[in-house]
Amino acid sequence: MNKQDFFIPNGIYLLNHSVGCLPRTTAFAKEEFFEMWKLKGGEAWGEWLSLLDGFCHSLATLLNGHPDEFCPQTNLSSAISKILLSLPLRRDRNKILISEMDFPSMGFAISQMKRMGYQLEVIPAKNGRLSLESWKKYLKPDVELALITHVIYGNSFLNRVQDILDYAKAEGIITVVDIAQSVGVVPINLRQWNGDFVIGSCIKWLCGGAGAGFMWVNSEKVTNFQPMDVGWFSHENPFEFEIDNFRYAQTAKRFWGGTPSVLPFAIAKLSIDTINRISVNRIRQHNQRLTQRLIEVAVAQNLKVLTPLDSSQRGGTVVIAFPNPMEAYQRFKEANILIDMRPNFGLRFSPHIYNDEAEIDRILDLLTSDCHLLPIAS
Ligand SMILES: Cc1ncc(COP(=O)(O)O)c(C=O)c1O
Repeated sequence: MNKQDFFIPNGIYLLNHSVGCLPRTTAFAKEEFFEMWKLKGGEAWGEWLSLLDGFCHSLATLLNGHPDEFCPQTNLSSAISKILLSLPLRRDRNKILISEMDFPSMGFAISQMKRMGYQLEVIPAKNGRLSLESWKKYLKPDVELALITHVIYGNSFLNRVQDILDYAKAEGIITVVDIAQSVGVVPINLRQWNGDFVIGSCIKWLCGGAGAGFMWVNSEKVTNFQPMDVGWFSHENPFEFEIDNFRYAQTAKRFWGGTPSVLPFAIAKLSIDTINRISVNRIRQHNQRLTQRLIEVAVAQNLKVLTPLDSSQRGGTVVIAFPNPMEAYQRFKEANILIDMRPNFGLRFSPHIYNDEAEIDRILDLLTSDCHLLPIAS
């Protein structure tokens, strides 16, 4: 069941949509990093850069991309800002498209582009869903860039990314896919998607900790984009040191910047290797088995399940709107079941490979026995 591969906090840990558990192997990354620093000081850069390279290779294996198509980033908000400030000027396209269910931080970053003369267009959701028809209605020739969130943080709705990308491409729209909530729990094939950009991080289902974000840029498109936010690691040859001769790297690394941090990526590299070893397909199947049971019992108890009931339309989380969410949250907390709550949505339950049927049974017991959790029978 792979429980032994992770350090799992006491209780039933279901916060994997927020922070995945620490894999046991990642402790070595810290030791290796400090050891090199201790022994070599500044001469450790060769090894440190290889660790960053390793991070990109592990992502390439996970997501079916090429290592050169990946660029380490601090987080998704910073990655999207860099993309926005790299766009080619196309005067006939002045809209940036997002959906109302995207993660707010993405909207905060994108709305800054209003200062540059862009308009923000927001696709409304219907009952927490975004249909392909809605996407098509908004993917119009005046759109410069569309943000497509693979899995929505509030209700785990899974967008039909391939169909949306194919449609956007036909309209000449630049695409960015946010995989923060899907990477590690939903299989992703970047070659097949063949969009422009993908942004993600390792903190959630990849169990890689904070600070290891990343960007994927399609190698066939990368030279169309000229980021404004650059540094010497964005240079074709970072060690050239000629202040009046900046040349963009020919790969995704043009989005890098100044001296990179190393430790978060060294840690995340080992966690991605752990997830690759387990396999995302297996994690997906296991997650769906557990979430399906939870959903069936919640529905039978007349609870409002906000997550799509059809397993092919959801990510790894089940979101339930309890009649009294604060009280429900408290009850779960007392039972040592670790979950969280998002305003306007509900309580979020996210089982990973290290959760098991017995843990889900404990939740089901609570759902079927604690009248405080349930709607009042009419
Ligand atoms: C869909 C989605 N995008 C992005 C983020 C996080 O963005 P950042 O890495 O900038 O904190 C989250 C975090 O929960 C998320 O759920």
